[in-house]
Amino acid sequence: MSDFIVFPKPAADFHVHVRDGDMMRTVVPTIKQGGVSLAYIMPNLIPPVTTVLAAQEYRARLESVDSSVTFATTLYLSPEVTPDTIQQAKKAGISGVKVYPAGVTTNSDHGVSSYASFYPTFAAMEEADMVLNLHGECPSSDHINVLNAEEEFLPTLKDLHFRFPKLRIVLEHCTSAAAIAAVRECGPTVAATITAHHLFLTIDEVTGNSYNFCKPVAKFPSDRKALLEAATSGESKFFFGSDSAPHPIANKQKGQGAAAGVFTQSHSLAYVAEAFDLAGKLDKLQDFVSNFGREFYKITEDQPTFQVTLVKEDNIIPNTVTNGDIVVVPFKAGEKLHWKVIVKDL
Ligand code: NCD
Ligand code: ZN
Repeated sequence: MSDFIVFPKPAADFHVHVRDGDMMRTVVPTIKQGGVSLAYIMPNLIPPVTTVLAAQEYRARLESVDSSVTFATTLYLSPEVTPDTIQQAKKAGISGVKVYPAGVTTNSDHGVSSYASFYPTFAAMEEADMVLNLHGECPSSDHINVLNAEEEFLPTLKDLHFRFPKLRIVLEHCTSAAAIAAVRECGPTVAATITAHHLFLTIDEVTGNSYNFCKPVAKFPSDRKALLEAATSGESKFFFGSDSAPHPIANKQKGQGAAAGVFTQSHSLAYVAEAFDLAGKLDKLQDFVSNFGREFYKITEDQPTFQVTLVKEDNIIPNTVTNGDIVVVPFKAGEKLHWKVIVKDL
């Protein structure tokens, strides 16, 4: 492999949190900086994005910060998202609907407790060919905790796929060998995103380091191995979704109650390149970060206005990404990567 890789198209990131207001203005410019021109934006704002109008207005705010990125939008599943809403959403160019099980992660208070009441909405989505994004965890209970919450969710994934076989479903941010196996067992309408940080982390690095804490939490070494193997396998079911989730530093520094979310946007492609290089699989990188997700989603994009090149060069991750009062700590702050993204405007 040579020491630089020119991307025919910049990367695409199918799971992005950029928030709103000052945080949005801080984080949106880092999408391009990280090597990405198509970003699928999560709807867990406060209040969540549950209407077509709110999604359209949010997209306009995002575009006003950086018009060189294509922003794809998804609605937050709630009782307001009816079959009627789905038809309007399809016409408005909204790509999907995201399910947050109630209480499992950041801003999921308005999430779902029972799936059955949404079957008419899922049927309308299947008909309209929209994508269902699943946060695949069950809420904690007597027998469910952060380590088995994803595995316990997998029967729900399979059940939804069985009921709606043509509905395109993405199991978001897979963290376990069990999840990878379940996605493989489903038909071609079921895919999964894999983050950059889960290609590196295991539960040991999460314990005692709130900057590595996200939902779902990183699991065991055997799980990390399965994720890396799936991401580098060349199977089109597995593609990149960073789940980059910025939080103000003060919310990460709380011992008890630290916010869940790892921020990777500013160096997203470089982290993935590092993991693929360590695995000796750089030849599979473009499919994972650029081609497979685009093929699954079929989103209409404008011609990219910038070119991305990955260069083999030392790249120290800064301690913070700062904009006025907003301070966010990136993943692997202060550590060295061996690949750097060079962005050239066309
Ligand atoms: C995300 C966030 O901060 O919005 N947090 C996280 O730990 N991944 C929400 C999510 O995707 O679960
Ligand atoms: Zn997320």
